[in-house]
Amino acid sequence: MMHDSQNKMKVMVFGANGLVGQKLIKEMNSSYEIIAVGNGVKTFNGEKEIEYHQADITDSARVNELLRKIEPGVVVNAAAYTDVDGCEANKEKCWKVNVEGVENIARVARLINTKLIHISTDYVFDGKNGPYPEDYQPSPTTYYGKAKLASETVVIGSNTRYAIIRTNVVYGKAYPAKASFVRWVTDELSAERRINVVNDQFNNPTYANDLAACILRIIQLDAEGLYNYAGADYLNRFEFAQKIAEKFGYSPNLILPIKTKDLGQLAKRPQNGGLKTEKARDRLGLKILGINHGLEMMLQETDR
Ligand SMILES: NC(=O)c1ccc[n+]([C@@H]2O[C@H](COP(=O)([O-])OP(=O)(O)OC[C@H]3O[C@@H](n4cnc5c(N)ncnc54)[C@H](OP(=O)(O)O)[C@@H]3O)[C@@H](O)[C@H]2O)c1
Repeated sequence: MMHDSQNKMKVMVFGANGLVGQKLIKEMNSSYEIIAVGNGVKTFNGEKEIEYHQADITDSARVNELLRKIEPGVVVNAAAYTDVDGCEANKEKCWKVNVEGVENIARVARLINTKLIHISTDYVFDGKNGPYPEDYQPSPTTYYGKAKLASETVVIGSNTRYAIIRTNVVYGKAYPAKASFVRWVTDELSAERRINVVNDQFNNPTYANDLAACILRIIQLDAEGLYNYAGADYLNRFEFAQKIAEKFGYSPNLILPIKTKDLGQLAKRPQNGGLKTEKARDRLGLKILGINHGLEMMLQETDR
C-alpha cells in the first residue's frame, strides 16, 4: 500500500512515545511515510511533520478504526507495559496491554493484509542457559516474560505476515528521558550517589538506535519470522555500570557489586539471559555492535 503523492509505503508505529518507538521513527522517517501512534498526547520532540494519532492498544475499536483508515503497508508494535516489577504486581494490566493489545493489532493487521513487526524480549527465557538462540525453548520466570511470550504466540497465530524481534536491555537517549539502566546509572552517579548493582545478571545490552536500524532492515528485506537482535558484549550489570561510568566520566568507586538475591526485586530476573545474534548478522547482513559504540553514540547525540 503506497502513499499516492510521495510513493512511500506507510509504516504505522505503535508505542511512538517510547524509547524504541522514537528511534524507529527517526530511523525510518526518510524512507517511509510514518504514522506515529501513542497512548496519550505526543510527548517526544523532533520529527515535527510526523502524522500522530492517539490510541490505547487495549481499545480494540480504536485500533480497528485507525488501522482500517490508514491501511499501512507495515505495522510495527513497540507499545508495551514494560515495567517488569509493575507487571508482577499488576498482572491484569500486564496481560491486557502486552497480550490483548497485541491481539487487537494483529487481528486487524490480518484483515487488512498488513505485515506486523512485533518486539519481544529475552525474558521469555528463564536465564539458566543464556545467551539464547531463536529456537531455544522459552520458559519465562516473570509475569512480564509470560505475557510477552503469549504475545508472540498471538502474533504467530494471527495468520498475518509477521516478524518478531527479541531484544534485551535496550538503552539510548529519548525525549523526554525514559527509564533505562543507563539513565538510572548516569542519574545516580552524576548526583554522586552510591549504587548497588548486581553482578550475577548477564545480558548483551542493545543500543536502541541499532535496534531501530535492524527493524528498518527487516522492512527493507521483507524478512519474516523470529529474529534476535542485541549488542555484541555479554556482561553483567555491574560490569555494564562500570563501562557507563568510564564513558560518561563518573567515579566507578560509587558502584558496589551485589547479588540478585539481596535486591529483593518482585519479579524473578533471569540471570544468564541475553540473546545470540548470528541469525540477524547472517540473514539480515547486520553488524552487531558493542557497548563502546552505543555509549559513544549516546554521548554524541546532542540534537534529540
Ligand atoms: N527496554 C528494554 O530494555 C526492552 C528489552 C526487551 C524488550 N523490550 C521491548 O521493546 C518494546 C519497546 O520498549 P521500550 O523500551 O521502548 O519501552 P517504553 O519506553 O516503556 O515504551 C513503551 C511505550 O508503550 C506505550 N504503551 C503502554 N501501554 C500502552 C497502551 N495501552 N496503548 C498504547 N501504548 C501503550 C507507552 O506509553 P505510555 O508510557 O504513555 O503508557 C510507551 O510509550 C516493548 O515491546 C518491550 O517489551 C524492551
